[in-house]
Amino acid sequence: MIGSLPPSRVLDVACGTGFLTSHLRGEVTGIDQSARMLEIARRRLTDARLVEGDALELPFSDASFDRVFSAHFYGHLRASGRAGFLAEAVRRRRVRFGDSVPEARCFPDEIDRYIVIDS
Ligand SMILES: C[S@@+](CC[C@H](N)C(=O)[O-])C[C@H]1O[C@@H](n2cnc3c(N)ncnc32)[C@H](O)[C@@H]1O
Repeated sequence: MIGSLPPSRVLDVACGTGFLTSHLRGEVTGIDQSARMLEIARRRLTDARLVEGDALELPFSDASFDRVFSAHFYGHLRASGRAGFLAEAVRRRRVRFGDSVPEARCFPDEIDRYIVIDS
């Protein structure tokens, strides 16, 4: 599915070791707070720009991407972090999530659901 997304200026937020990032097409940027994760990602992603930084304070100007992608990150955030992340991501462009973390299991008191369509 990720590989079927049209090539674009795409930001992968919390890209980790870059496995999913490697399936994105276009001008790819990954950001993660972990230098160790990025070290592995750099070996895997020779063409992507990789930035160490905080997903909740993205160090990019507004509308600098056509698409913001994130996987296995949003479900780990608490409500205040989610709101901040969404605000940051939307300012940078479209948002597409992939998340395998059952939210109710993480934070039973904060069950909510967002459906974000890539359009
Ligand atoms: C479960 S991993 C997911 C990695 C990748 N997206 C994937 O699906 O393989 C979560 C990642 O989020 C990163 N992370 C957690 N909080 C972050 C933050 N505030 N800003 C940037 N990265 C963060 C971690 O360093 C870790 O690499």
